[in-house]
Amino acid sequence: MSGMITIAIDGFSSSGKSTMARKLAATIGYRYIDSGAMYRAVTLYALRHGWVSDEGVDTESLTKALQEINIDFMPQPDGSQHTILNGEDVENLIRGIEVSESVSPVAAVPEVRHALVAMQQRLGQGGGIVMDGRDIGTTVFPDAELKIYVDASAETRARRRYDEMTAKGIDVDYNEILANVRNRDHIDTTRAESPLRKADDAILLDNSDMTREEQNARLLELFNQTISRCRATD
Ligand code: DC
Repeated sequence: MSGMITIAIDGFSSSGKSTMARKLAATIGYRYIDSGAMYRAVTLYALRHGWVSDEGVDTESLTKALQEINIDFMPQPDGSQHTILNGEDVENLIRGIEVSESVSPVAAVPEVRHALVAMQQRLGQGGGIVMDGRDIGTTVFPDAELKIYVDASAETRARRRYDEMTAKGIDVDYNEILANVRNRDHIDTTRAESPLRKADDAILLDNSDMTREEQNARLLELFNQTISRCRATD
């Protein structure tokens, strides 16, 4: 073992997995990759070209354009990282409601998934990475040494999203957010291509009643156990 492992963290939207994954990566000195941001960046690109409408996604045009889409991550002085789409910092744009409402159908397009999975596998070569998403433990890194599946009720997640947005001064309706969370859950778990599901060897972490500190501590404990196990079997 090189000493550095691959960590896959999957779960529903707003399950708190990104915050947890980012914190773990910073603590153990690994690189963090937010795979959802990559689907969001592709969605922004498709929206700008008018390829997403109520009728669905113009799969043909989007598929042809995939090789022109370049996604990078740029570390920021505060330790966070921004998503860069073809040289443009799109971090704020990809978190907006427009992208959030269109990302699930774009992420269900098989060609989009193939392109992004290949990109994610390249980014993870050699380990030393914490990647979060929906299919990281099942499809992107099926051999990851540590896989976590984060779960929390739809209401808990909608409440978190509501609190986050109101704290930022954004005027939102809780029931609308809950509907958006449920709709995305439905699309993400029922799509034909790599639906969200727990890998058989993933550890379930239900954080509905856990504080952030408890989650971080649990994750770090799982990481340390995995490292010891890998060393023992080396
Ligand atoms: O984690 P997030 O909410 O930023 O993800 C945005 C969307 O991208 C979400 O609808 C699910 C999709 N996604 C995916 O299909 N596969 C991933 N590995 C990550 C995200």
